[in-house]
Amino acid sequence: MKNKIKFSVIGFGRIGKRHSKIIYEYEFTDLISITDVAYSQFEESNNLDLEVDKFTSIEEFLEKDNNKSDIVCIATPNGTHTDYAVRLLNAGYHVLIEKPMGLSQEECLRVIGAQETSNKRVFVVKQNRYSPPSVWMKEMIEKKVIGDVLMVQVNCYWNRDGRYYSSSNWKGTRDLDGGALFTQFSHFIDLMYWVFGDIRNPKAIVKNFTHPDLIDFDDSGFAQFEFESGGIGSVNYSTSCWDKNMESSITVIGKKGSFKVGGQYMNKVEYCHVEDYEMPELPETNPPNNYGPYKGSAANHHYVFENIVETFAGRSKPTASSFEGMKVVSIIERIYKAAKFIK
Ligand SMILES: NC(=O)c1ccc[n+]([C@@H]2O[C@H](COP(=O)([O-])OP(=O)(O)OC[C@H]3O[C@@H](n4cnc5c(N)ncnc54)[C@H](O)[C@@H]3O)[C@@H](O)[C@H]2O)c1
Repeated sequence: MKNKIKFSVIGFGRIGKRHSKIIYEYEFTDLISITDVAYSQFEESNNLDLEVDKFTSIEEFLEKDNNKSDIVCIATPNGTHTDYAVRLLNAGYHVLIEKPMGLSQEECLRVIGAQETSNKRVFVVKQNRYSPPSVWMKEMIEKKVIGDVLMVQVNCYWNRDGRYYSSSNWKGTRDLDGGALFTQFSHFIDLMYWVFGDIRNPKAIVKNFTHPDLIDFDDSGFAQFEFESGGIGSVNYSTSCWDKNMESSITVIGKKGSFKVGGQYMNKVEYCHVEDYEMPELPETNPPNNYGPYKGSAANHHYVFENIVETFAGRSKPTASSFEGMKVVSIIERIYKAAKFIK
């Protein structure tokens, strides 16, 4: 088929492999190359039967790809995202950046600057936006079905223990991971931002309860704030739950009714009681990404690639823009600053 979009992937780890497989199999996309600093990762690509160019650094990719690819997926550790995005944009590539877009608003602004000068597109992975309960929640608020929003409470209680951190050389580090709100819970902060908008006046307290020798930062915290659009909110989170994830939920109290989207990863509407409103039957949510002993967010990545194809064809726009990616990073940064976690 003509005019397939040519992708390359940088970072061939857990999520980079998922990107590669979807791109390789999807009829509208071609996989041109994979780049990873670890040679051992390439063995896996042989198992996946991926016949593509293989490079071991972004420098080698930039030198040898020579703009054969249209767009590059950045699926390396969090702390590398913005630097790689700027270099790729300046070299004439569109980019898809895994979450979080970066680890500070300032770094994200550099990406937006490079996007402006290069005239290339930036997509940010926010695949939980495609889950039916997320779409439903967004519509409930946009159509003001529950009236004025008074309170929004986000609760994320997960398990990430030695099984998770001991198998990685970057997770748990300040510079490359950044914190639990960046790596584990940025999807849920994204949903909150997407539906309820920006926050102000955050107050927060964060702790490292059960990971003192495993990670450089928080594993748990409470944050409270106001929404610019009215109402108050909180984000309560922990990766200290014993053995397995417990829940990721959002409880919303409005003047004309209340609802709760819950489950392990905000995958079902658990409560809805709203004046003159009958809860419709929602389509099934995709299962979570399964990483063996622990689970992640919804396996919705194929929608991300469909969105890129549709956007390139002029029939859609990026589901999550660079500005929105930056806003999520900024909310996390402001929460951590309020907790005196980031000086
Ligand atoms: N959207 C989601 O649901 C989701 C899920 C998991 C991870 N992620 C994000 O994807 C990114 C990768 O996470 P992961 O779990 O796949 O990590 P991972 O450790 O499994 O994979 C990272 C890969 O990048 C390679 N790498 C490291 N530094 C590199 C560099 N400088 N250049 C090239 N390759 C390099 C490593 O060798 C490794 O293979 C992170 O930003 C993470 O937050 C998103």
